[in-house]
Amino acid sequence: MVNIQDETILREFNLYPLWVRREALNQIDTCTSPFQANAQTEVISIPSLDASKAKSPEIVQKREAEPASSNRIIPDADWPELKKKVTDCTACKLRATCTQTVFGVGDEKAEWLFVGEGPGADEDEQGEPFVGQAGKLLDNMLAAIKLKRGNKVYIANVVKCRPPNNRTPEADEITQCLPYLQRQIALIKPKLIVALGKTAATALLGRDATLGSLRGTKHDYQGVPLIITYHPAYLLRSPAEKAKAWQDLCFALTAFTAR
Ligand code: URA
Repeated sequence: MVNIQDETILREFNLYPLWVRREALNQIDTCTSPFQANAQTEVISIPSLDASKAKSPEIVQKREAEPASSNRIIPDADWPELKKKVTDCTACKLRATCTQTVFGVGDEKAEWLFVGEGPGADEDEQGEPFVGQAGKLLDNMLAAIKLKRGNKVYIANVVKCRPPNNRTPEADEITQCLPYLQRQIALIKPKLIVALGKTAATALLGRDATLGSLRGTKHDYQGVPLIITYHPAYLLRSPAEKAKAWQDLCFALTAFTAR
């Protein structure tokens, strides 16, 4: 029997009612097998959230290169100092067109860090990451793995100012802003980082690659496991890909429990 909470989560990921829960196979490793969002009769199992049932992801890929911006790292800033530096920052052209900086939100001792690209219109207005439609989806993605914004979870972006018309941040903007995220990571010391989309993935990895090629691998960000999945805004535009995001979240959960 699918309970109400699972049903909501399955619906969010386009896995219900097209997919049938296989009660007998409550094994997390079934998450790692490829599955298609559009299959009508495919049977999948829902991963157990029990750490004892998780298996280790086998592949660990170290970062190839330091990002260009690591020279500009902010080595000692504590939270208040870092927040002030971000608020006062005019290092790139984005500050001139945004309403306010969007620092990040959540538990400053979080175990999980989710990294997006940059603020959109809602975030620019409210000063908090992922509060628009993509944010609602992100909250549901968190709920799918029994996480909640602010509770052992921190949410941040690569750039802290909204790019005009929600365009992708440019290389120089990322270079200027990345040290803030790097310092946030150093202060939080998360146990796992999830990069949401290509901008976050390539900024944290320090190399360019397609998102598809980066999924399904446990990468490494300075000793912290880094899992890469689709950006929620992309999933809103391409709902058929939500099943892959679900697969990635299962993989992240496995990496988290196996670390
Ligand atoms: N998209 C992002 O990448 N970050 C946000 O905060 C909102 C939308």
